[in-house]
Order: sequence, then structure tokens, then C-alpha cells
Amino acid sequence: MGQSRRSFLTRLATSKGFRVLHVLSDEVTHIVSEDNQGSGLWAWLRGCGLKLLPKMHVLDISWFTDSMREGRPVAVEAKHRLQDALPESSPAPPMAAVSPYACQRRTTTENHNKIFTEAFEVLAESCEFSEREGPCLAFRRAASVLKSLPWAVQCLGAARSLPCLGEQTKVIMEEILQHGHSFDVEKVLSDERYQTLKLFTSVFGVGPKTGDKWYRRGLRSLRDILEEPSIQLNRMQKVGFLHYGDISRAVSRAEALALGGIIDGAVGRITRDAVLVLTGGFRRGKEFGHDVDFLLTTPQQGKEEALLLAVLDTLRQQGILLYCDYHPSTFDISKLRIGWYDAMDHYPKGFLIMRLEGSQVEGGLQRDKGDDRGWRAVRVDLVSPPMDRYAFALLGWTGSRQFDRDLRRYARRERRMLVDNHALYDKTKKEFLAAETEKDIFVHLGLEYIEPWQRNA
Ligand code: CTP
Ligand code: MN
Ligand code: MN
Repeated sequence: MGQSRRSFLTRLATSKGFRVLHVLSDEVTHIVSEDNQGSGLWAWLRGCGLKLLPKMHVLDISWFTDSMREGRPVAVEAKHRLQDALPESSPAPPMAAVSPYACQRRTTTENHNKIFTEAFEVLAESCEFSEREGPCLAFRRAASVLKSLPWAVQCLGAARSLPCLGEQTKVIMEEILQHGHSFDVEKVLSDERYQTLKLFTSVFGVGPKTGDKWYRRGLRSLRDILEEPSIQLNRMQKVGFLHYGDISRAVSRAEALALGGIIDGAVGRITRDAVLVLTGGFRRGKEFGHDVDFLLTTPQQGKEEALLLAVLDTLRQQGILLYCDYHPSTFDISKLRIGWYDAMDHYPKGFLIMRLEGSQVEGGLQRDKGDDRGWRAVRVDLVSPPMDRYAFALLGWTGSRQFDRDLRRYARRERRMLVDNHALYDKTKKEFLAAETEKDIFVHLGLEYIEPWQRNA
């Protein structure tokens, strides 16, 4: 229940001589909850590491109101009890109810464990900068599990039954619980190399390798790089510096929708039967993103690349295509072999920077104080898969990255199947499995369907 409601009820109960505890421990005899799903609460309680949980009464607010009326704790009746989803006769459920695969967890944008996940993400990034892939993945997986929980971890006991949390991650969680921060994370955050690489890789077109090369040459600021005569920036990096402020500022949903409208307008001038879909983080319900991702396709199989090129031409003619890194199709269905895909798929695509006018955005642009240009630059990814590959492309481009990774890992390890942005292959049957929708893919994999807004792993 909310804070003020709880304060009110606490005062009421205390005035009648009840003892109200704010911290869950084995001292508690009655647990009162309001507007709560029994199964969710029970799942949380089981994870809290209580020894005496079987002896506690887990109750609905009706027990509390009855007791207040009587001025004493009334006997617990069946109508007061908050029912667990599981029938009483069934054996105790296993503690590890949370799946080690993100594709079997429902992860919304509401993160109850930010204090831990933010710490793990800093550590993962730091590992990435020093090419320690194992630990990097371990921190990412731990963060992902914690993001999926509908409750905040408040004691290490509650985390005991969770998958993907190793000794090291638990030590860090313990520190955060005790001191409010982790010493390892503080150390990384104040590390000069980490800070510099973080800054350098925030420029479009600069990856960890280039960042590190510049760092090792003693460069420390963006100005250092621009003033170093021996550094030859490539086209992407040049434009990255040119639009640095805009591109490093988050893109809002209103801005993403406005861009969708603009691209849709360009598509509409070329053909009537094409589909433009917003994917990436915005499809998962995020309010802000670092870019805007779109899938563009047409039922006219084989015409998708020409369509994409025509759309890009239209945008260029409108003067709103500030940058276009075009990757032609390398997709050849006759050579479809799965496991190709690593970081990049084979569809024709453009990594773009578009100019967006403030007047076209409902509620205006995201911009810095004192910026009165009336427009901003936005990073846009525009990908054009053939219609029969659409479901796979949509699933891949909706992400999240961690969700995709675990989907592939799950398919491989649990189903002997291979899945990527192009196809799904059953190694046992030695055949490709077709899919028209994302749901078809989940069915083939024997997975419960996870909605896009539940894929924020
Ligand atoms: N993706 C991909 N191939 C690429 C680039 C990205 O399949 N060449 C996928 C990523 O795996 C991810 C999705 O496209 O699942 C979106 O990528 P990205 O825009 O980087 O991340 P978002 O989740 O959209 O996050 P943000 O909101 O910050 O943009
Ligand atoms: Mn994105
Ligand atoms: Mn993207």
C-alpha cells in the first residue's frame, strides 16, 4: 500500500496497542496487505529467506479492519487469508521460480532494483572496456534478473534463490544494502581510463577499440581529439562530433512518433502497400531512447531494398537526411545458413541522422537550455527485411539486446534450435521453421508469449 495509507493504518493500530513492524523479520506474526495479488506477494515472501514463514498469517486488509473494530487481533478465518495461487495440498514450489533465461521472464520498464542494476551496468561496461567478456556477461545477466523482479530486494536472503547471481555479484549487493553504494563501483567511476573511454565512446562512430587507442596516446577530452592534428576522423566520427550535443541527448517518445510520421509520409509518396513499424526500445514501451528504430517492409517480396532506397532519396530531397550510412542487402535466401548472424544482420539498412523540426513534435523538442535553433539531430535506424522474414526481424530489432541473447541461448541449449534475425532452424528435424508473427516463433520454441513491453531484460 502507499506510504500515507500505511502511516495512517500504523497510527490507528498503534493507538489500539498493536505492534507494527516496518521491517520483515521472523518476529512478525501477521502480514497485512491491500490491493495485492496473492501469488505475487507469496512469491516475494518465499524469496525473503524467512524461517518462520509457515507460521505467519498472510492476510488481506479485511482482517486488519475487523481487528481495529474489535480493538484486538481477531481470530484468522478463511475469508481473511490471502490465497496463494497454488493449492495447499501441492508440494512447496521450488525456490528458483525465476528462469535463468530472459526470454522466460517478464520484464517491464519498471525497475524496482535500480540501485543494484545501475551498479552492475557500470561494472559490465568497465569489463567491456578491458575486453573481459566473461565477467561482463555475468554482470549483464545479474542486472537482467533483478530487473525482472516485481519487488525490490531488501535483504540478501531474498536474492538467495535467484539464478545468475554469483558470489561476486552478491558481495556487491551486500555492500549496497549495507552502505548504500559499492566500493568496486566507486573505484570504477573514479577511474580515469573508465571516465575517458566512457566519454570517447559517447561519440557516434567511436567504439571501445578506437577510444582505447586515443586514451593510450594520452588524449583525455573531446577537445584533445579535435585538436590533435595526427588524428584522422572517419565520416561517421566527423558527423558524431558535429552533432555531439543532439545525439548524446535522449530522444523522447513524442520525437520518435514525429519521425515515424515523417518517414511514413515519404513512404506514402512511393507506395501504398508498405508497412513502417517502430521497434527497439520504444516498441518495448520506453519513454526515451538513444535512437529511433524502424522496420520497413512491403508485401511485394523482393522490392524492399528498392523501397528503402527510394525512401532515403525522398528524405534527402527534403533536406532532412543529415547523414546516411547505407548497408546494402547481403541476404541470400538460397544460402540461408543459420548462425551467421553475430552483431549485424543481412538486411538492407541505413544508420541515419535526421533533422527534426520542433514544430513537428507534440510538446516540442528535447533540448538544452539556451538552445533556440528550433530543430535537433536524431539518430535513426531504418531496416528493410523481406516480408517473409518480417517476424524474425521484428523480434530481433525489438530487443532488448539481453532478451535476444537469451532467446538464442535458450533455443540452442534447451531446444536444439537456432534462431536469429533471419530464421529459426530445428537441428533435430534438420529443417527451417516458418513464422508469420512473433507469436509463431515463441510457439515453435515452446515458450510462453512475452509481449514487447515485457522484453526490457
Ligand atoms: N540490433 C540488431 N542489429 C543491429 C543493431 C541492433 O539486431 N545491427 C537490435 C539490437 O539487438 C536491439 C535492437 O536492435 O535488440 C535495438 O537496438 P538499439 O537501438 O541499440 O537498442 P534499444 O533497445 O532500442 O535501446 P535505445 O532505446 O537506447 O535505443
Ligand atoms: Mn533503439
Ligand atoms: Mn538502434
